[in-house]
Amino acid sequence: MNVQHCYNFKDFRHLAQRRLPAPLFHYIDGAAEDEWTAARNTRSFDSVALLPNALADLSELDISTTLLGRKLSMPLFCAPTAMTRLFHHEGEYAVAQAAANAGTLYSLSTLSTVSIEDIGKLNDQPKMFQIYIHKDRGLTREFIERCKAANFDALCLTVDTLVTGNRERDLQTGLVMPPRLSLKSLLSFALHPHWAWNYLTHEKFALANVRERMHNQNLLSVMTYVHQQFDRSVVWKDAEDIIQHWGKPFAIKGILSVADAKRAAEIGASAVMLSNHGGRQLDGCAAPFDVLPAVADVLADRLEIIVDGGVQRGSQVLKALALGAKACSIGRGYLFPLAAGGQVGVERALSLLRAEIERDMILMGCARLTDLTPEQVMRLA
Ligand SMILES: Cc1cc2nc3c(=O)[nH]c(=O)nc-3n(C[C@H](O)[C@H](O)[C@H](O)COP(=O)(O)O)c2cc1C
Repeated sequence: MNVQHCYNFKDFRHLAQRRLPAPLFHYIDGAAEDEWTAARNTRSFDSVALLPNALADLSELDISTTLLGRKLSMPLFCAPTAMTRLFHHEGEYAVAQAAANAGTLYSLSTLSTVSIEDIGKLNDQPKMFQIYIHKDRGLTREFIERCKAANFDALCLTVDTLVTGNRERDLQTGLVMPPRLSLKSLLSFALHPHWAWNYLTHEKFALANVRERMHNQNLLSVMTYVHQQFDRSVVWKDAEDIIQHWGKPFAIKGILSVADAKRAAEIGASAVMLSNHGGRQLDGCAAPFDVLPAVADVLADRLEIIVDGGVQRGSQVLKALALGAKACSIGRGYLFPLAAGGQVGVERALSLLRAEIERDMILMGCARLTDLTPEQVMRLA
């Protein structure tokens, strides 16, 4: 089986599971505690059904949109994910180039294995850098300057990760970062010699954006890194300062309430990413799609609303847009294709999702994304 035989999220997930050592597959697939929130993220889309229009003129279809100041070919993009190179040696380069080839936005994580500068040089397509605020506040100022110099279009500040969630699968698999041979993981690595060979024969693993500041300290685990380095004293004023210093489109990622979305608008954010980090942080918290109608009701005309979490199908993107989102983003939806087949895998996943959005728009009788309104969905009991 290869990526050409994958037609949907489940197929890519299945292939990724075959290609990756178990600790890495579970690092992507897993979530916090009972994984209720992660499951709810996808299930929440089932609480609403689409209502198509009949006999609408569909001779011209346009699924392009603008987001964070750039035109995107579709209302779906790649969310930031840490340490992408662990899952395939082509890593962030592959995802960024696949997103560019699809004409959509790529987001680079603070904890990426490729630097801001190297991604900046790759192409002139839309790019966003995701910030985690470290105790070393100089690092945030440095990120902003580096993103300006590298021509990034937008920044997003992730606000849901002051500590890492309790991801019990990682404890069970004995995940360590970067991967090292331990007694527990030995068998899993031995069973995936192709991954192990590529990992060992390509560029050495490093957190490319913070390497210098960390003085090449050994990274023991994401958990220790977050506990040691992330600043828990961050408040709205800090976000406001970053917005002013940056001066270009800015999103706050990890918002789940109307009150916080309002504050984001008040301090001048251009967008909120309704997100619970793919269910990886606070288990039991709400799904972004569930909170979307309330947030959109109050704020859709003041800032752009992005829904992130559990998106696996084009029809789910249409539901989110109908209820007021400007776009959706995916994490696992491109990480599994990456693990399954590198850049080719991500390109295939993005083109399948684009085809679903286009086909479903036609089936919905909607020629433009603005035709998707709350009248186009019904809530199920
Ligand atoms: C393996 C993995 C690593 C992630 N790393 C980051 C990160 O570094 N920064 C961040 O803001 N979000 C991170 N996220 C969350 C994603 O940006 C996104 O919110 C989430 O994956 C969306 O849910 P989905 O995977 O169901 O699409 C990560 C998600 C995954 C699966």
